Amino acid sequence: MDKQTLIKHLNQDLANEFQAVIMYTTYSSQVKGPYRPQLVQFMQAEIADELLHAQFLADKVASLGGKPTTTPAAVPAAASAKAMLENIAAAERDAIAGYTARAEEARAAGEIGLAIQLENMVLDETGHYEETLKLLAEWA
Ligand SMILES: [Fe+2]
Ligand SMILES: [Fe+2]
Repeated sequence: MDKQTLIKHLNQDLANEFQAVIMYTTYSSQVKGPYRPQLVQFMQAEIADELLHAQFLADKVASLGGKPTTTPAAVPAAASAKAMLENIAAAERDAIAGYTARAEEARAAGEIGLAIQLENMVLDETGHYEETLKLLAEWA
């Protein structure tokens, strides 16, 4: 794993974190139905975590000599609360897979501190994923 490839992958992760911030912000604005208060609270509570992830990744890209991306990944459209939660679950599952792979790449590159932080982010995203699955379970 050369440094340029690691920077490129971290920038893809950063684009996904920006996507997560935008997704939680705009979905919470639009979500409708009897569970709106709980869903707004759930979604808006995630934003702070995702912003911390984005800031960490941007700092690391810069520290490695790269330029942090300013372009988010596209947020998928969702026409219902359930579709929003399904998109959120998919994004969190992808984030777990991404950071699991990235931690291995960081370790292979000798970036042990980065690997440990990425593993902590696996922990955060796993929490988000499992809470989302619980919200989706037994959906009427
Ligand atoms: Fe995140
Ligand atoms: Fe997350």
